Amino acid sequence: MSESTSDKKVEIILVAAIGENGVIGSNGQLPWRLKSDLQHFKRVTSGRPVVMGRKTFESIGKPLPNRTNIIMTRDLNFAAAGATLATSLDAALAIARDDARRRGILEIMIIGGGDVFDATMAIADRLEITHVHASPKGDVLFPAIDPAVWRETARQHYDAGPADDASFDTVTYERRA
Ligand SMILES: NC(=O)c1ccc[n+]([C@@H]2O[C@H](COP(=O)([O-])OP(=O)(O)OC[C@H]3O[C@@H](n4cnc5c(N)ncnc54)[C@H](OP(=O)(O)O)[C@@H]3O)[C@@H](O)[C@H]2O)c1
Repeated sequence: MSESTSDKKVEIILVAAIGENGVIGSNGQLPWRLKSDLQHFKRVTSGRPVVMGRKTFESIGKPLPNRTNIIMTRDLNFAAAGATLATSLDAALAIARDDARRRGILEIMIIGGGDVFDATMAIADRLEITHVHASPKGDVLFPAIDPAVWRETARQHYDAGPADDASFDTVTYERRA
């Protein structure tokens, strides 16, 4: 790691797929089947530290490959082979920053779920959002994306493929200066 890398800020990036009604989760699972978005998620997060809540980890069921998995839980008895546990947001971010700097990529990916997005929206530098063109029923919402705070800088439309429940747009939002 060069000195310039260790001096640079590590950006916090939230990665989420959101329905038109703000829903991101239902009964502990994703409320849709979107294989094309899972491929997008893999491209965006691979090679980076990923921070997630314990419930999201349990819904995925195993650590995501080729990423340092950092799981937030207050349960000191929780165990997850192949993942690193953090009992607070500060601890999770400290582990993720060290990992990102070691990789020289200067990005921490926050991947959910609702509790963790709520806790990190105010400190995020960038949002990588999949706007899903559907409004499924659900019990977990993404916080509002305030246009006074966030500026859209990139958008790509995807038609629904054979293994997708809906079409979607991937959108990058940068925090306004
Ligand atoms: N559409 C998407 O992009 C997307 C992405 C991710 C997840 N999801 C969905 O969202 C749902 C899960 O979200 P959720 O809000 O229910 O749960 P979550 O955010 O995944 O996990 C919540 C858990 O994380 C731990 N936690 C949260 N804040 C903490 C803190 N400050 N310090 C230590 N531990 C902390 C606690 O674990 P303990 O209870 O163990 O202490 C808490 O119960 C699922 O339906 C999932 O499929 C959707």
